[in-house]
Amino acid sequence: MTELQNQPRLTAKDLELERGERLLFRGLHFDGAAGTLVRLAGANGTGKTSLLRLLTGLMQPDAGEVLYKGANISKLKEDYAKDLVYIGHMNGVKDDLSAIENVRIAARMGNIITTDEELVDALTRVGLQDFIDQLTGELSQGQRRRVALARLFVSKSKPVWILDEPFVALDVASVANLAATVAEHVEAGGIVIYTTHQECDVPVDPARKMTVDVSAFSPRRSWAASKSEEAADV
Ligand SMILES: Nc1ncnc2c1ncn2[C@@H]1O[C@H](COP(=O)(O)OP(=O)(O)OP(=O)(O)O)[C@@H](O)[C@H]1O
Ligand SMILES: [Mg+2]
Repeated sequence: MTELQNQPRLTAKDLELERGERLLFRGLHFDGAAGTLVRLAGANGTGKTSLLRLLTGLMQPDAGEVLYKGANISKLKEDYAKDLVYIGHMNGVKDDLSAIENVRIAARMGNIITTDEELVDALTRVGLQDFIDQLTGELSQGQRRRVALARLFVSKSKPVWILDEPFVALDVASVANLAATVAEHVEAGGIVIYTTHQECDVPVDPARKMTVDVSAFSPRRSWAASKSEEAADV
């Protein structure tokens, strides 16, 4: 496959975020160079989805900044958005459209021009070849999830993929297929940032993998950790 041009780099710099009057994290940082797979870890409610939204620019941090190729994403706006694919926790697919229409519209919204052949291929890659013209509202939860993920197969030119729980509701074969697609994107120089609660081996060189434990930046965790250190000192 063609290598991505114009080396991407996504950097979280000292991010702080409060939600619902609770400080979720402070001083959160990582630096994702081209060809990096970043897994966000942490228990329910630690702020992984919130962090993804900061990384997409959909939400603003209370302190710190997100840099793309060294520039603040809030200044880059469309110049960053055009390089990004975000598949959120909710599927983002429209029930009253068919599977192929959903992928076509999602691609078009990302300024990706696709042929019908490419759309059929994308849906076939996620195992939906028999449901191409089926209304999405008539599909199962896992099948709807696959419609959302089919977008990745027409998004290889987009350097940054941000995926919230991409493996949820997928069967074993689909998990392996998706993991392989993610790995291929990383090997081609993309940056993939994802959350997962499942152990899932994405087959990339371990040197390309990074885990960011969001709870490690939680002030509550720091308090608990310092208390346990105090106890250990006694
Ligand atoms: N729209 C919102 N308004 C206010 N608080 C919110 C909102 N969405 C989430 N929160 C709060 O922010 C915190 C972090 O939520 P978030 O969804 O980022 O966690 P998460 O790590 O993704 O959890 P999960 O593993 O369950 O997906 C939670 O305490 C949640 O209650
Ligand atoms: Mg979440």
